[in-house]
Amino acid sequence: MTDHHEIKLTEVKYGKDRPAAKNPVKIMDLSLRDGHQSLFATRGRTEDMIPVAEMMDEIGYWGVEVWGGATFDTMHRFLNEDPWERIRVLKRYFKKTPLSMLLRGQNLVGYRQYADDVAKAFVERSAENGMDIFRTFDALNDFRNFEIVVDVIKKCKKHFQGCVCYSMTEPRMGGDVYSLEYFVDKAKQLEAMGADTICIKDMAGLLSPYDAFRLISALKENVSPPIHLHSHFTSGMAPMTHLKAVEAGVDILDTCLSPYAYRTSHPAVEPMVMSLLGTNRDTGFDIKSLAAINSKLEKEILPKYKHLLNDSRVSVIDINVLLHQTPGGMLSNLANQLREMDALDRIDEVYTMLPKVRKDLGQVPLVTPTSQIVGIQTVNNVLFDDEKESYKMITSQVKDLCFGLYGKTPVPINPELKKKALKGYPRGEEPITCRPAEMLEPELKKAEEAVKGLAVDIDDVLVYALYPVTGKKFLEYKYGREAVPDTLKPRTLEQAKKEAELVRKARAGKLVEKDEAGNKEVELPENVAKFSVFVDGEPFEVAVENTGAIPMVHSVAPAPGPFSGAPVSSIAPTFVPPTAPISAPAPSTPSPVQTHAAPAPPTPPPANVPTPGKAPETAGEGTPIKAPMPGIIIKYEKNVGDTVNIGDPVVVLEAMKMENSLVSAVDGVLKSIAFASGDSVAKNDVLCVIG
Ligand code: CO
Repeated sequence: MTDHHEIKLTEVKYGKDRPAAKNPVKIMDLSLRDGHQSLFATRGRTEDMIPVAEMMDEIGYWGVEVWGGATFDTMHRFLNEDPWERIRVLKRYFKKTPLSMLLRGQNLVGYRQYADDVAKAFVERSAENGMDIFRTFDALNDFRNFEIVVDVIKKCKKHFQGCVCYSMTEPRMGGDVYSLEYFVDKAKQLEAMGADTICIKDMAGLLSPYDAFRLISALKENVSPPIHLHSHFTSGMAPMTHLKAVEAGVDILDTCLSPYAYRTSHPAVEPMVMSLLGTNRDTGFDIKSLAAINSKLEKEILPKYKHLLNDSRVSVIDINVLLHQTPGGMLSNLANQLREMDALDRIDEVYTMLPKVRKDLGQVPLVTPTSQIVGIQTVNNVLFDDEKESYKMITSQVKDLCFGLYGKTPVPINPELKKKALKGYPRGEEPITCRPAEMLEPELKKAEEAVKGLAVDIDDVLVYALYPVTGKKFLEYKYGREAVPDTLKPRTLEQAKKEAELVRKARAGKLVEKDEAGNKEVELPENVAKFSVFVDGEPFEVAVENTGAIPMVHSVAPAPGPFSGAPVSSIAPTFVPPTAPISAPAPSTPSPVQTHAAPAPPTPPPANVPTPGKAPETAGEGTPIKAPMPGIIIKYEKNVGDTVNIGDPVVVLEAMKMENSLVSAVDGVLKSIAFASGDSVAKNDVLCVIG
């Protein structure tokens, strides 16, 4: 055992002036990206990062992760914030600490492979705007998907951190696919590509402490770049895993400030600082400075986000990870989606079906976007398959995966499924073996054309190139072409306090309602009821369940307008599909505010009440295509008057971040179209009619 593996306890001093350790563990803070992405649905606003940025800059972090992952999507879609502006703003406050981003290889910060010209421009602009460290991963660990972006990172003289996604098919590291040899081999490939550091990305919190010891020891012996460990807390193992990784000589650990830590996020930094105090791996961090940041966050910032915490559970860990070796967030996400489709009772079928679908699809690691691809296909199989046919509704992403558009799967895809998925596939029925993006035509010029007169610079064009539907909407808001909806505006501390007050009142057994006659007190109903109430003149919707001695508040949210979903709810999933505004129900009548308690619905209370279809079901004579799930219309493949044959794709619906082609069940002519690209639709909305 080499010297740095040993933990030595020397003289313990508390203050910042204590002697520096020989080999301090370096720390990257994730609060401002993965932290709020994991706990608060990526809803953190730049204005709420600024107050702590300078304090964080003084800590001595190796880096701060502030961008990438889901931030780009969420910012332009839900927060009406320019993603590029965040890098520039934070760069002004983090003067010493390098900024880090999560880059999904050729998927950039989206959910599909982008063309090489878009990938190059995106990385160049990220570097130019102020990004220093590019933490790069590929969902299939197919590093051909790194080639283009790494080349640009290197040209821009920035830090290339190569990630290996940690995955497993057995209860411990090993088995046919994800063995120790697999990970060491992947790390060697990254070293050969010029990785400045190598990261083990344990996105699901699957890495157990003793496996971490074996893995980090093996990596330290076999590759020379520093080793960085990213392990989510989800299963509860991560703090133990971190400590064993330190003993094995890990160089850098990922943590969050405690308000952003635990649950599906990461271990907190403070216990690690204290655990290593006075050892040869002492971080050197001042615990009092960390405490000062936390106190500011607790008092001034986090009250605005607390309602997003998925606190319907008592437990802070999710043992599904230990039971199913699948990301906890992914399973709770699927549960939320099933709930939206009124099919939550079929969750056990999903648990059973998921490993089978994953195996059919080549035992892919489960990380964005493969976790969604496997998850949504599993839901489709459970909901739509019958005894006669399996894989009845194959998503276009599964078809792309079968074609090779995401890269090479760790083991081959089930040949029967591959054949079925690629039948009539527009790019061809024979899968490719080349680097996927080689198949893609350049996209940047077309994007420039599409937003001519709207986009002002290349950064705007990239917003559109990455997210055509929502990106264009954002640019229209940005340049005042359209009014910004209230649901996209920031929430104030005052608002948060009012809502907290409401919750307090509900917990005390009373809600104050105001009708035309003025204030009156109402008693809580027997079981559950939804209230629309005013607090200081502002309408809020509150769902309350009376399960025993203490009434439970299910959700508090600003009351939605007639046709929009409310933005937030305390039972919101930690990971939020863009198609469904988080789960507060939209009222089924145009009246946004009721002045008395609604009748108690049957238990459990509905998390979502889909709005009724806008087009009547029997629109004319003909066969309707209905939305099988809530989502956003991407496009119609046919125009009114076009001939449609059985099996022809007619509508592309984005649901759960995946595009689903809805096909015609009849021969005929497309008689009517009920929506336009970008429209949100509810389950069972009639999308078009074929007659
Ligand atoms: Co993560």
